[in-house]
Order: sequence, then C-alpha cells, then structure tokens
Amino acid sequence: MSSQQLVLKQRALLLDAVCGGGSAEPLDCVLDLLLAWEVLIWEDYLSIRVTEKPVSSNARHLLDVVYEKGEDASGLLLAAFKQVLPEEQKSELCFGKEYAVLEKNRPATATSALLTDRPVLVKKLRDNIDEAFDVLMTTGCFTIKDCDGVHLPAYTPSQQVRRLLDQVRYKGETAARTLLKYLDQTEPENKEHQILEETISFTASPDTLLFQRKLRSSVAAQSHFLSTYGGTGRFSLDDIYTDGLLEVMNGSGETTTLELEDVVGPVGILNKDADTVLVSGEAGSGKSTLLQRLHLLWAREALFTDIYLLFPFSCRKLNAEHRALSLKELLFLHCCWPDRNQDEVFQFILDHPHLVLFTFDGLDEFKQGFTDEEHHCCPTQPVPIPTLLFNLLQGTLMKGVMKVVASRPQAVGPSLKHYLRKEVHLKGFSPGGIVCFVKKQYSDPGMAGRVIESLQGNTALLSLCHIPVFCWIVTKCHQELLGGEDGIPQTVADVYLLVSQHFFQRKSSQPQGALRKGWLEQHLDTVLKLGQLAMEGLEASCYVFSGHELQRHGLTEHDISMGFLIYCNDMSVTDSKRYEFLHITLQCFFAALYVILNRRNNRSAIPKLFQLQHRQPSSLSPKCLGHCVDRSVEEDESKMVEKPNLQITAQFVSGLLSLQHRNLLLDCCPAALREHNVKQVVRSLSKAMQRHFKFIPRPVEGEKKSMHAMPSFVWLIKCIYEMQDSSIAQNTMAKLDVEHLKLTYCNIGPVECTALAYVLKHLRNPVGLQLDNNCVGDVGVEQLLPCLHNCHSLYLRNNNITDEGIRKLVEKGVHCERFQKLALFNNKLTDACTQHFAWLMKSKQNFLSLRLGNNNITSQGAEQLAEGLSCNRSLQFLGLWGNHTGDRGATALANALKNNTELIWLSLVDNGVGSAGASALAELISQSKTLEELWLNKNVISRDGVECLIKALKMNSRVKEVWLKGNNLSPEEEEELKKEESRLTF
Ligand SMILES: Nc1ncnc2c1ncn2[C@@H]1O[C@H](COP(=O)(O)OP(=O)(O)OP(=O)(O)O)[C@@H](O)[C@H]1O
Ligand SMILES: [Mg+2]
Repeated sequence: MSSQQLVLKQRALLLDAVCGGGSAEPLDCVLDLLLAWEVLIWEDYLSIRVTEKPVSSNARHLLDVVYEKGEDASGLLLAAFKQVLPEEQKSELCFGKEYAVLEKNRPATATSALLTDRPVLVKKLRDNIDEAFDVLMTTGCFTIKDCDGVHLPAYTPSQQVRRLLDQVRYKGETAARTLLKYLDQTEPENKEHQILEETISFTASPDTLLFQRKLRSSVAAQSHFLSTYGGTGRFSLDDIYTDGLLEVMNGSGETTTLELEDVVGPVGILNKDADTVLVSGEAGSGKSTLLQRLHLLWAREALFTDIYLLFPFSCRKLNAEHRALSLKELLFLHCCWPDRNQDEVFQFILDHPHLVLFTFDGLDEFKQGFTDEEHHCCPTQPVPIPTLLFNLLQGTLMKGVMKVVASRPQAVGPSLKHYLRKEVHLKGFSPGGIVCFVKKQYSDPGMAGRVIESLQGNTALLSLCHIPVFCWIVTKCHQELLGGEDGIPQTVADVYLLVSQHFFQRKSSQPQGALRKGWLEQHLDTVLKLGQLAMEGLEASCYVFSGHELQRHGLTEHDISMGFLIYCNDMSVTDSKRYEFLHITLQCFFAALYVILNRRNNRSAIPKLFQLQHRQPSSLSPKCLGHCVDRSVEEDESKMVEKPNLQITAQFVSGLLSLQHRNLLLDCCPAALREHNVKQVVRSLSKAMQRHFKFIPRPVEGEKKSMHAMPSFVWLIKCIYEMQDSSIAQNTMAKLDVEHLKLTYCNIGPVECTALAYVLKHLRNPVGLQLDNNCVGDVGVEQLLPCLHNCHSLYLRNNNITDEGIRKLVEKGVHCERFQKLALFNNKLTDACTQHFAWLMKSKQNFLSLRLGNNNITSQGAEQLAEGLSCNRSLQFLGLWGNHTGDRGATALANALKNNTELIWLSLVDNGVGSAGASALAELISQSKTLEELWLNKNVISRDGVECLIKALKMNSRVKEVWLKGNNLSPEEEEELKKEESRLTF
C-alpha cells in the first residue's frame, strides 16, 4: 500500500496517537521534524499550528496538507510519527516502507538553520532558555515585549523554546546568528553548530549565477537611458543624472540629508522590524529617476554590492496584470526569466531574503490603495496582484527582503506607514542642483550660462525648477524662453503650454513663424484625442495604453510622432507595444485641455474635478478603457488613489483659464464657453475654500484663532495662483479670518511659497505664518516676501535656509511694520547671517522675538548680533539654543542686552558657556527689570559661575527660573546650591 493510502486509511489512529494524551507536544515534535526535512515550508507550518484551535484540529489540518503534497511527503510524515511516538502506540500502526531522509547541504543562512536543526535546537534550548533570553536582550535582538510574549507560564518549556525560535526567525538573520553563536559557546565541545556558523555564507549555484548575470544586464539595459526622454532623443542617465535632495526624519523630527546609498542604510530607521523603505516626493520630484539610477548602479556593481539580486517593478505596469500570480511568477514574468533551473533560482531567493532587493516605483499609480486586510504568505500560491504586492510590503510574504517603494506622499496612508522601516523624502533639486542640471543639458557652456541667468532673473520660474520635471521642461524650451516673446512663464500651465508649443513646432512642416500664433488651433484635433485618452486614463488610474487603445481614440502615427506619447520601457514578457505619456503631469495637462476645449463635455466636469472626495464618475465616460478597469477594484471607490492627479489636472484647468491665455483659447473654443468655464472654476474654488474655513475651530479662550491647513488648502491656493487674477485671490482671502495659519509638514517648497504669497498678500489682518518642517529654502523665502507685510510672525523651523535667504528676508522685513517674530530653528545659518539680524534689531524697534536655535553661530556671530541688540529696546525673546557662542559670545550678548527694557526670555542652552559667561549673565540679571527665564542647560558652568548667578538673583525678584541642568557640577554641589536659591533648576 502506498504511503498516501496508509495516511488516509489510518487517519483516525494517527490522530488518536498524536493527540490522545491531550498534550500538544507529540504534534509539535512531528512538525519540528517535517520542517527540518523540508516536507513543510514555513507558511505551511503557520497555517497548521494555530494556537487558538484545538490540537486535534491542527493535527487534522496537518494530515490534509501532507496528503496533498503527495507520496514522498506522506512517507516522511509516517517516518516522523514513527520517530516521535512511544513504542506502545506504534504497535497498532503501519508505517510502510522506510523513507530515508535525504542528506541536505548545510543551510546557507542562520534563519534557515533554525528550521533544519529545529528538533535538536528545541532539545538544547530547553535547559538554557533564560540565558538565551538574556543574550538576545543584551544584544538588542529582543525587546522586553518579545520576551514576555514567549515566556508565558502557560507554555511548557518546549513550547516556550519553539516560540522563541519562531520569534528569532521572524526577527531575521542577525537574531538567528546571535542565538546560534550563543549555543556554540555553551557547548564548546560540540562542534556541530560551530561548523554550522562557519558554513553560513552563501554559495550560489552556476544557474543562479547565470540568472544574476542576466538580471544585471537587463536591469542595466533598461536603466541606461532616461525613460522620459524616449520620444525626444535618447539621453544617457549618466550624462543627465543630478543628485536630488534626499532627507530622512528621525522620531524626534530632526532631519538628516542622505546620499543615494543611504536609502536602505541604517540612518533614519523608525521601525527596525519592517523592511519597506518609502521614497516619497511630489509629482516630478525625481522618484522614478532616482530608482532608475539606483538600478543602474546596482547593475554595474557600483552600489548595494551586498545585494545579489535586484528586482525592479513598476506599479503602473502591474496595473495591467489581471492574472493571479504567485511570487515566483511575478518575479520571473515581470522582471527576468531564468533560462535554466527556475526552481533552484527561486529556492535561492527564498533561502537568502537578505541578499534580495525589490523596488516598486509609483505606488500612487497603483489602482488599489494599500490595505493590510488580506494575509498571504505562500510564495508559490497564485493570488491577485494587489494581494501579492501588499503582502510583500507588509513583510507577510518574503520577510527579510528589503523593498524600496517610491510614491507621492498623498498615496501613503496610516495603514502603510505602520509597515515602513523608514521614510526618505525626495525634495527635488537644490539651487546648486538646478545649475548643475542646466549645465549638463547643454554642450555649449555659453548657452547654459544664458539659461541660468534668465532663470535667476525670474524667481517664479526658478522656484518651479526645484521640481526636476519642470526644470527639464524649462531647459527643453530654452529658445522660447530666451526669446521671451510670449512673456516669461510664471505658472505651471505657462510652462506646459510652452513645452507643447515646442513639441508641435518641432514637428511642424511649416516655417516656424507661421505656427506661432494659432498653434493650438492648428493642432486641436491631436490635442483633443490625446486629451480624451489622458482624461479617461486618469479616471481609470490607467497610465499605460496599448496600440489598440490609441487606435480606438483615433490617434494616428502622426499624432504619436509629436512626442507626447512614448513607448513603455518594459522588461516583462509582453507581445505588443505599449505607450505612456512622457510624464504623468503631461497626461494631466492634456486631460485639462480636454476638459476645457471639448464642446461636448458634460457641464459638471469642472465642479467634479474640484470636489474630488470620490472617484469621478462617468461624465467623461471611461467606457472605452474598460479593460483597464478591474471590476473588483472599481467597486471600492474609497480605495482609489488617483486623487493627486485629478488635483494636478484641476490646477492646469485653472492655469489654462487665466486671462493671459484667453486669446490662445479663443481660437479653439467659443468665448461663452470659456467664460462659463472660468465662472465654474471660480465658484468651485471659492466653495472648496469655504468648506475649508468652516472647519476652523473656535479659539480656546486666551489663545489665537488658528487654522491648521489641510494639504488640499495648498492645492487650492496653487489653483488660485494659476488663474493669475488678483481679484479672485482677494475675494477668497477676504473670508479668511484667523490670527495664525499653520502649514507644517505640508511639503511646501518654493513653488508653493509663490502661490501662498500671491494669496496671503490680500489678507485683511496679519497672521502668524507657521511653515515649520517644509522645504522652503532660500528661493522659497524670497517668494514669500510679497506677503511679509501681512505676517506678524514667521516660523520657518527646519527649512534648509541659509544666510543668503536671511539677507533677503531682512532686507524686506525691516520695512514691514507688522512683522515682529521670526523662528529659524534648525536651518543652515552661520555667522554670516548675524550682520543682517543686527541690522534688523537696530532698524525695528518693535521686533519681539528672534529664535535661532540649532544653527551654526559662533562667538563671532554672537558679537555681531550683540552689536545690533545694544541698540534695540523691544526684543522680548531671544533663543540661541544649540549654537556655539561660548563665553565670549555669551558675554557680548549679556552686555548688549543690559540696555534692553523688554527682554523676558533668553536661551543659551548648549552653547559651551562657562563660568565667565555666567558671570556676565549674572550682571544682566542684576540690571534687568523684565527678565523672567534664563535657560543655561547643557553648558560648562561650574560652581563659581553659579555663585555669581545666585548673588545676582538675590537682587532680582522678577526672574522666575534659571535652568542649569547638565553643567559642571557634582550632585552634592547642585543640592547645596539649590538650597541657597530655589529658583535654580538642576
Ligand atoms: N535626478 C535627476 N537628474 C536629472 N533629471 C531628473 C532627475 N530627476 C528627475 N529628472 C527629470 O524630471 C523628470 C521627471 O522625473 P520623475 O519621473 O523621476 O519624477 P517622479 O517623482 O517619478 O514623478 P511622478 O510622481 O509623476 O511619478 C525626469 O524624466 C527627468 O527628465
Ligand atoms: Mg514616477
């Protein structure tokens, strides 16, 4: 009788034997053996051993799973029973022929050794479990919570060991190695695990090596040319790539700048149990290009050399995959096909998760929003693509494989954040990056120089260039730009009109001059066809189109040759050509043109674009893109993630309807239609703003009326700016009545600053504008100047601002009567900015608060600032926490502030101030009639310095507290001094 038949026939007996005693131990021992013999994979084990279910139900499930696996597996199951059961129980059972367990190679990783040696490990650890916990805790592999979860008294020692092994496996390679090493040390005479430790270095088989070579060469081929330039000439990534600004924020909100190789490195890790790194950035900030660069460098073995296999995915392309796929199929069909020995290559991937990297570009383009509701952990079972993708990101599937995901920030909700190892922010080009990029674009340095000069002469345009995609477009159109006949572009719509004109003109057979005026009208037919395709695509989250699709929209070879649509770069095995827009923002632009110019549009198209809470229903029917829309996805509208693209489209609609483009549009659509559209946009914007203002909470008594803007506020402001009609800005802002406007963590860069200033300059009453934790930079500061007269306070903490930004800010600030407070904590300021602040202090005798913490101001800067402060009578708050003023700077500041009659609060925390500085500050205390708090923590003040302070305090009853934590004092001294003066805090 075959083993399978024996299992079936003896089912009741087997179950009775394994569960009869009521203990789970025999079943667990059988499972240990089956895992070690690789009859079960880890995912099987998880599905069988469910603690919440009775042992008998687990055992039944085991028999089913093994039976399904066939004859060999059933034979090994019987062999395991034979090994585990006591003699008396074995007598009733028949175990069939002897199944020899094949001798396997030593496992290649420590985590796999935990499985193959599980039966032995369980035995060994049973007596040493407490020590093992200690080791795992002291090495940081386990937390107290991990230990508590395993060490429950309800479990038997063997169960505790198994849970410990499971948890160590879950924690990954380092934890597993630590545990095995510990076992080696406990039994030095036993060489078994030492050998195991030594053999844990991987050896790839020749077929796996061959696959690696193939993967490297196809990744290299795919990433060699910049994909976006497909239709406009082939630019090698090497020639054009310019580093963008990459930042990571730690748990306490401090940011660090990163290099490309740090993307998966240890800096900025928030959750070390997760293995998904998010690269987030706004549209066109260079996420796809960054991933492309990363792929190319890996393929050349110049980056991530410890990664053996890298699989690049595009979510845009995954949208088009409607089959259910297993992980194996996903990897091989979508990335690279192993020509030999697929199973072995796949096994290598499963066995070496820490040598593998997956990248997913454009998560925001994926049709379905992230959810963690459905769990799937089996690498060989086919499931729908979203399930596969989301389980990979969560780490349910292929735990230990590092994943890098690029997405626009709007598509990353709290449920995904939970699974992120870290979040890296890509903030586009720095000012230096723009110059570098422009230089790379032109072989003629003279031309590059002229373009840079013209950019620097137009800050609205320069601020757009911080976003690489705009920078690229602007440089493409340098002729039009330098010619300047149509005025210098100010808005995003201006820039995209410029590039469209450029593309059409490039392909035109007519002399260039003839095209100039009526170019849009002349190409209206192409524009409308592209526009319809674009809009329907956006509505269905479809960004890749088949040739057939293009035909159905009437797009001809001639239309395609204009260059707005390009072939998809594709590594997957497909049979037909596919197309995408040069960039999604261009798809949005054509969609916007379609909304405005198509006379047959439903009249609700514009209001719907501005509502955006739900997916757009079919005013512009996506019927003809039916195949792109997965029905199951379509039903769950709340999970749609195309909102950001419709917002960009709405922004283009606003820009195209600006007065400046009236003549261009009038050639193509009747004046009445344009007017109607303008009215609709204005009404929609005003309504959306009203909704926003309605949610402003009533102020708490004693506090300012404050509005914390939602990200959509910034979008609405950008739409208003695009319209370039100050009366619209004025009318909208007339209804905003707050004293404080908070826009922290809103991805405000220079472009957003331009728009903000455009509307805020119309406020009736001044506000405190809080822009902390954005990426304003010096160019952004300059863009904000037009509204500075309407800001009583400006908070710009953590915004990459340098001395140059301060120069411009102060230049304007001294003339703004109402501007009274400035916070610049954690920027890039040095001594070179203090001369400007000194001037501000001298010129503005109503300035109240200056906070410059965590910059790089030394004693020299402090002296310069002091020079200005000595002429100021109004300052109440001065913060210099975390600079380097030292004694000299502290003394200069203390002397200067003696004349001040308003100072309430002064911080020189962490400035290297010693007793000399303290004694100068003591003099300030003895003279000041207003000072209430002095912060001197984390300095180097010793006893004599404190005694000076105490002496001064005896003469001053106004001061409430002097903070002195972390100075050069012993605990005894602190206690003694505290007794002398209770207002000192140590
Ligand atoms: N680092 C870079 N160096 C040179 N050019 C760049 C860089 N980053 C982006 N670009 C230019 O900007 C274009 C748009 O960039 P990219 O497609 O990478 O942006 P994205 O952030 O992926 O946008 P989206 O959010 O729409 O996916 C590129 O095609 C390229 O022309
Ligand atoms: Mg992209």
